[in-house]
Amino acid sequence: MATVDVVTVRRSVVYFAVTLLFVTVSCVSVTRDPPYETRYFHQYLDHFNFASRGAGTFKERVLVSDAFWRSGGPIFFYTGNEGPITRLWNEIGFMKDLAEQFEALIVFAEHRYYGESLPFGENTISQENMGLLTVEQALADYAVLITNLTVSYCQDPDVCPVIAFGGSYGGVLSTFLRLKYPNLVAGALASSANVYMSAGLTPGNQLFQDVTEDFRRYNPRCPDRVREGFAEMERLAGQGEQGLHEISTRMKLCSSLQDHADLVNMYRWVREAFTVLAMEDLPYAISNGPFLPAYPVNASCNLLLKATDGIEEILQAVGMLYNFTSNLSCFDLHEDFVPCADPTGCSLMPGAKAWDYQTCTEISLLESTDNVTDMFPPDAFTEETRAAHCRERWGVTPRPGWLATQFWGKDLKASSNIIFSNGDLDPWRRGGVLQNVSSSIVALEIQGGAHIMDLRAPNATDPLSVIRVRQQEAHLIGQWISEATNQKEASGNG
Ligand SMILES: *[C@@H]1O[C@H](CO)[C@@H](O)[C@H](O)[C@H]1NC(C)=O
Ligand SMILES: *[C@@H]1O[C@H](CO)[C@@H](O)[C@H](O)[C@H]1NC(C)=O
Ligand SMILES: *[C@@H]1O[C@H](CO)[C@@H](O)[C@H](O)[C@H]1NC(C)=O
Ligand SMILES: *[C@@H]1O[C@H](CO)[C@@H](O)[C@H](O)[C@H]1NC(C)=O
Ligand SMILES: *[C@@H]1O[C@H](CO)[C@@H](O)[C@H](O)[C@H]1NC(C)=O
Ligand SMILES: *[C@@H]1O[C@H](CO)[C@@H](O)[C@H](O)[C@H]1NC(C)=O
Ligand SMILES: *[C@@H]1O[C@H](CO)[C@@H](O)[C@H](O)[C@H]1NC(C)=O
Repeated sequence: MATVDVVTVRRSVVYFAVTLLFVTVSCVSVTRDPPYETRYFHQYLDHFNFASRGAGTFKERVLVSDAFWRSGGPIFFYTGNEGPITRLWNEIGFMKDLAEQFEALIVFAEHRYYGESLPFGENTISQENMGLLTVEQALADYAVLITNLTVSYCQDPDVCPVIAFGGSYGGVLSTFLRLKYPNLVAGALASSANVYMSAGLTPGNQLFQDVTEDFRRYNPRCPDRVREGFAEMERLAGQGEQGLHEISTRMKLCSSLQDHADLVNMYRWVREAFTVLAMEDLPYAISNGPFLPAYPVNASCNLLLKATDGIEEILQAVGMLYNFTSNLSCFDLHEDFVPCADPTGCSLMPGAKAWDYQTCTEISLLESTDNVTDMFPPDAFTEETRAAHCRERWGVTPRPGWLATQFWGKDLKASSNIIFSNGDLDPWRRGGVLQNVSSSIVALEIQGGAHIMDLRAPNATDPLSVIRVRQQEAHLIGQWISEATNQKEASGNG
């Protein structure tokens, strides 16, 4: 989740829609973004070890709003992903809308090792302190916190159902929370949750293929032109140092490419720009974080088709993301794109290092390109490439099958009450659950939808598909709440 203070969805780029004021489209009500209180919750450092330093605690940041809450109402719990929770608070507008409807308490919990939730203070992100950064520990943090909240807010903890919400990696976490702690959460809304991809259960050639497909869908000439641009660079690179220098000048790089490794890194930096434009292909402009125009795929494709040569074409798309401030005299590759175990790259933000560690251990994001099924230069990102980086950077070796073993692989049917929503324009979607698993584990498709679109605040330009999906989500969540409440009343009386 690229940056200027950009947390990524996958790694680095998440853009935060301005949601100070939002209007629901289906009705005429105007909901103001509710105020929240920032709290710090004492968490065990290590939930799974009584003997070691696990006895210690750290402070986890939690944002709580009771603006809409009525006693006995549900708790809506956002399972924080890789980045400061305050950013997620701004981005996830729909949850507040729903909270008003259901008179819910709103809680946004920060993921350990991100934002202010640093177990070892300023020494947190260092090789010797990374061991307590796991999906299991983060979920246990959420579980302990939920237990505390239900006791504190509901006189009888049995009468306030908790619904987990999450987008992207946060959606993976809300899914896993429901799988692992069904005693604590009555259901989960998991938007753009690449659960299967993260567990290494999808082919590694889909992400960039779907980025290409987004551009092809708008205009088939676009991917052709992008290929021409890369082919021109390859031709120049074949001429040695002189050629690399020419590419650097024409791509307006601040420092000249020195060797093949630099070239590969630049290709990935370019690829990342196309990826972000595709995943953020929303019908409205976003401006909190990088500014992107409405429908950035269309917009960049239109610019690209007007360019005079192949390299200039690529420059247009790259500029839309990395030069969104319109004031760069040159591109600093190393600032925008840090190579890591996530093939979409990491940023210079502190959280990006924690994300690198997570993709070096449990989270698998092995996505390659081949210039056949996608428009990018061949670049195989293999388990070996990943492991070599991880050993060198963190002294760890990834355990590829672990997440699938631990979180049910592709066999989710014994669980219930999970909504997997995905936009068909989102290149991450094929990493997720796209088919209905059972009557209560449903896959909802948002036609014309981008990454975590349904969780964003409703906007006047929203397509009907996202409005309908949000209505379905509200309906299902309402069902989960009344089922949980009835069941608990029944067992309480019996
Ligand atoms: C919940 O956590 C807060 C803050 O750490 C603590 O003060 C409070 O006693 C806890 N409440 C319960 C019921 O555990
Ligand atoms: C952008 O392209 C999509 C299809 O990919 C289309 O639905 C939409 O109307 C286009 N928008 C603009 C402003 O051209
Ligand atoms: C960034 O955008 C500005 C305004 O369009 C332009 O003058 C400048 O050359 C661009 N910088 C780069 C590196 O492309
Ligand atoms: C470009 O503008 C941004 C935001 O307006 C500012 O933070 C940044 O320092 C500027 N960069 C340069 C190179 O002038
Ligand atoms: C991509 O494949 C085309 C042939 O389909 C070839 O002309 C081009 O040079 C290749 N580009 C790269 C970067 O390898
Ligand atoms: C899953 O079921 C819901 C109804 O419960 C339906 O609206 C949706 O289209 C189904 N999803 C798929 C991918 O078939
Ligand atoms: C929709 O998005 C645009 C661009 O971010 C914003 O200016 C507008 O206020 C948003 N809200 C509505 C209700 O359209």
